[in-house]
Amino acid sequence: MIKLAPSILAADPLNLEREVLRVEQSGCDWLHIDVMDAHFVPNLAYGPDVVRSLKRVTRLPLDVHLMMDHPERLLETFLDAGADGVTIHAEIDHPVSPLLRRIRERGVRAGLALKPATPMDAVVPFLHETDLILCMTVEPGFGGQKLDTRVLDKIQMLHHTGYHGEIQADGGIREDNLASLINRGLTVAVMGTALFHSDDLPALVSRLHALKEISQ
Ligand code: DX5
Ligand code: ZN
Repeated sequence: MIKLAPSILAADPLNLEREVLRVEQSGCDWLHIDVMDAHFVPNLAYGPDVVRSLKRVTRLPLDVHLMMDHPERLLETFLDAGADGVTIHAEIDHPVSPLLRRIRERGVRAGLALKPATPMDAVVPFLHETDLILCMTVEPGFGGQKLDTRVLDKIQMLHHTGYHGEIQADGGIREDNLASLINRGLTVAVMGTALFHSDDLPALVSRLHALKEISQ
């Protein structure tokens, strides 16, 4: 069954606790926290204190997506704050292996993300050091964008390598395009707008969870 990871970027910032409980009670599986440094991406969002506070109010695993040029500067702080998964970007200017190893040493799911234009080859040497690969389906930085269908092939390619970890996508995922992602091997869908702006979230979540996985 596909795992749904609501991105709090699309939640009402003035009622974050209420919004998180709403997605938790609707049956979502993870909570996705988009961290942005206004340098790697042209936006600024969330710090470790938000993760620490969320840890206190929800049982959902906290899936932290570091859209940062220097994730190493706050990695320990995010790990201490209670992240259950930390994803760094393959495009940063320094080696990803030491960071992936550190995340795993702390018993946390280690993820590596690719922007839409970054080829899958960029992560192949590191697959064995990861528990999750995030194929961004929009240019990172903002919610509410249109899914870039060119990324579907990347997801399928990763699935066909027999990758053992989670295959995640993030950006522009809706009820009308999720099946096409699942059919290519997606296991975790990050959804912001489509979930938080739904007028019947529990019904939407059960429909999305019912979408069939690909026949093996
Ligand atoms: C982009 C963000 C978005 C957000 C979800 O950096 O990561 O992808 O999580 O966006 P929507 O609202 O398109 O689901
Ligand atoms: Zn994200």
